[in-house]
Amino acid sequence: MVQIMSKPSILVARAIFPEVLQSLSQVFEVESNQADEVWSASELTRRMQGKVGALTTGSDRIDAALLQANPQLKIVANMAVGYNNFDLPAMTAAGVVASNTPDVLTETTADFGFALLMATARRVTESEHYLRAGLWTKWSYDMFAGAEVHGSTIGILGMGRIGQGIARRAAHGFGMHVIYHNRSRLSAEMEADCKARYVSKAELLNTADHVMLVMPYSAESHHTIGAAELAQMKPTATLVNIARGGIVDDAALALALREKRIAAAGLDVFEDEPKVHPDLLTVPNVVLTPHIASSSIPTRLAMANLAADNLISFFTKGKSLTPLNTIAQ
Ligand code: DGY
Repeated sequence: MVQIMSKPSILVARAIFPEVLQSLSQVFEVESNQADEVWSASELTRRMQGKVGALTTGSDRIDAALLQANPQLKIVANMAVGYNNFDLPAMTAAGVVASNTPDVLTETTADFGFALLMATARRVTESEHYLRAGLWTKWSYDMFAGAEVHGSTIGILGMGRIGQGIARRAAHGFGMHVIYHNRSRLSAEMEADCKARYVSKAELLNTADHVMLVMPYSAESHHTIGAAELAQMKPTATLVNIARGGIVDDAALALALREKRIAAAGLDVFEDEPKVHPDLLTVPNVVLTPHIASSSIPTRLAMANLAADNLISFFTKGKSLTPLNTIAQ
C-alpha cells in the first residue's frame, strides 16, 4: 500500500520572487501573499493558523501573542539579517526556531552605505532637486559645496560584518581614517584588515567627519544617537544610518539638521517606517531612501533563497542553516 504523506503547510507572509515560491511549493503546501498586502498583527496571526513554518520579512512581527495562538508553529525564517521583528526569547520559550539571512547581503549593504555617504557628503539629491526645479542658471564657485570624503575620518558605530565591509571600502578605496566603536573589540588581525582603530563612543562622535551607524537594533541601542550625541558631533559632520530605525531619535535629528548643528544626514531606515517623521521631509540637508540598502536583484534573490533553504533544510534534514536560537529537540 502506498502511503501518501501530506506536505507541511507554510505561510510566506509577503510577496517574494516567483522562482523561490516555486521551489518552496515542491516541498510545502504554501499560502502566499503575492499581492503583497501588509497584514495587521491579527491578520498575520490568523493566516499563521495550521502552518508549521513561515517565511517573513523584517516588517512581520513574531511575538508572544502570535506564538500562543499558533502552538503548531516550528520555524520562522526571516528574509533579513536584522531580526528585531522577532521576540527571540518568546520564540525560544515556545520551541520555535528563528533564522535570518546573514552574509549574503554584507557587501551589497556596505556598497549602499557608501552610496548614501557619498550622496550625503556631496549633496547629490539636494542639488538634483535644485536642477530639476529649473533653478540652475549659472556655475558658482561654492555651488552645493559639500564635505570631503577621501582622506577624511569615518566613525563606524557597530563593527559586525557590514561595518567591516564599510571600513574596508573606506580605508582601502578612499584612503579614509577609520575609527570604530562596538560592544566588543575586533581581533588585532581584523583591525589591521580594516585599518580600523578602536575608540570610545565619545571620541568617535567628537572626531569623525562622517558617522556611520551599522549596529543591530535592541532596547539598549534605542536612541543611540539623540540630541546629546548630535551635540557632540562636529558641525561639519554627516550622519548615515543604514542599520535600523529607532537607533536615531528622528525628531532630534531633524532639529539638528534644520539648525545646522551637523551638516547633513543620509537615512535608509526610520523610527516608524514606512512613515517618515514629517520634519525630516522638510529639511533639505538629508538624503532619504526607503530601506533599500540590501536591495540589489542578486542579493534580494540570495536572501529569499536562503530564507527558503532554512525552511527546506529544517523540514527535510531536521536543521535550519542559519538559526538564531537553539531549540532542544
Ligand atoms: C536586513 O536584512 O536586515 C535588511 O534591513 C533588509 O530588511
